Parts: sequence; structure tokens; C-alpha cells
Amino acid sequence: MDFSELNRLIKADSSRYQLRVFEEVISTNESVKELASPGQIGIAIASRQTGGRGRLGRSFTSPDGGLYISFIYHPHGGFERNFSIMPISALCVCRMVEKISGVKCVIKWPNDVLAGDKKICGILSEGFIEESEEFIIVGIGVNVNTDLPESLPMAASLKSLTGVSYAMEKAAAELINIFMDVLERFPEDEEYLLDMYAEKCVTLNREITATSNGHRIKGRAVGIGKGGSLIVRDLEGNEIEVFSGEATLRE
Ligand code: BTN
Repeated sequence: MDFSELNRLIKADSSRYQLRVFEEVISTNESVKELASPGQIGIAIASRQTGGRGRLGRSFTSPDGGLYISFIYHPHGGFERNFSIMPISALCVCRMVEKISGVKCVIKWPNDVLAGDKKICGILSEGFIEESEEFIIVGIGVNVNTDLPESLPMAASLKSLTGVSYAMEKAAAELINIFMDVLERFPEDEEYLLDMYAEKCVTLNREITATSNGHRIKGRAVGIGKGGSLIVRDLEGNEIEVFSGEATLRE
């Protein structure tokens, strides 16, 4: 990735962030920890990851052609007040993808970005404490120009969908611009952003099975709650708020 071109495309004041670009790392969610600073947003980008991590203890295949990017920031209001950054990040990715490629995206709760019914992006957010300062890490992997292995039939890349190769500097800079703009107005804009998220969330108004901390809840996804939780009306008619985990659609 061309560092000066990337910097040229980033709109934010350079005093607001610290950016590192790597060829190869184990995981950008690890590398970005070096950039933890209370007053700045740290951003680590890599062309490939050898130990990319996914949600729920899974791995994330990270070959060349993908955008692997992690942000680290000191959250206003602490961890609790920032839960919804994870789903809102998926909204940011949709906006970036739609802007650079025109490909329409939807979101599978909590934060898989899909084009059609194929996953094009995964997000892993984590908390990190250093010298008793809290930090949030948001790690995003977007299949931009990736040639995906046949072992991942449910995944697609923007290139596989459109036949076009995208400039990684543009993809990265657009995402950085959108994400930093959101962070600047967070948490004041949280409710508005969660409404935007809900409009894109294909899990809503569907019969689902939610799995969270080893519990399974069958029911209908009826809303997005505070912090980006999924509100499920179970088969007995009780409304249950699911804060983490995943939801699969039932036929
Ligand atoms: C998932 O779909 O399970 C989440 C995948 C998150 C992948 C991104 S790629 C950049 C960052 N570094 C990692 O090791 N994971 C996240």
C-alpha cells in the first residue's frame, strides 16, 4: 500500500491519528496495541495476516487482496458506553463499500457485512487496558480484491462480485474517514446510527435462533436495543435482549 497516497486521501487532521502500515503481521488487532494513546486514534493496516482472528474464537483467513485494519481508541464513557461501536462499525463498512464500488450491502447481526447472501467483511472488537487506561480495538477485515478459497463458499470479495480491482488506499482511506467521522460524534449520535444500522440489518423481522454464552433462544428478531443488542420475542412471547453471540435464520 502506498503510504503517502493513503495519507493524502485521509481527511482527518493528522494530529488526531497515528497510522502504521505493514506488509504482514500476525493480527492487526495485536499490532495496533502499540499505538494506544489516550489522545489519538491508532490505526494499523496490513496487506495480509498470518494469524487473523475472528469472533467466537474462530480464525479469519487473511490472504493478500483483503483490507485488514484495526483502530484503537480511548472511549468516552468507558467500555459500557461503547458497546454499539461494534455494530456501528459494520454500518461504516457498508458506507465505504457502497461508496467505492456501488455494491449494496446488508448486515447480519451483530456485525457481518454481506453482499447478496455472501459475507464480505467480518469485525472483531476487543477491550484493552494499559496502565489502567481503557481502550477499544475495532478490527475489520474486508474482502476487497481477495481471491477466496473454495473452502469458503459463503464468502465473496468485491472483486469477485464486480470483476473490478479496487485501489486499497482508497478503500482504506474511505473507511478511515467514515469511521473517524462517526467517532467524533459518538456517543451523541448513537441512537441515530443504530436506526441506520437497523435499516440495514437483515436479521430483523425474521425467525431466528440466537446463540449467546451457550444459551439458545428461538424466536423472532423484533428490534435493536441499546448498545446494539438484538431483541428477540421467544416462542412464549417474552422479549429477551441478546447482547452478544450470533443469530441464524430459521426457515
Ligand atoms: C469475524 O468475522 O469473525 C471477525 C473477523 C475479524 C477480522 C479482522 S481482520 C483485522 C483484524 N485483525 C484480526 O486478527 N481480526 C480482525
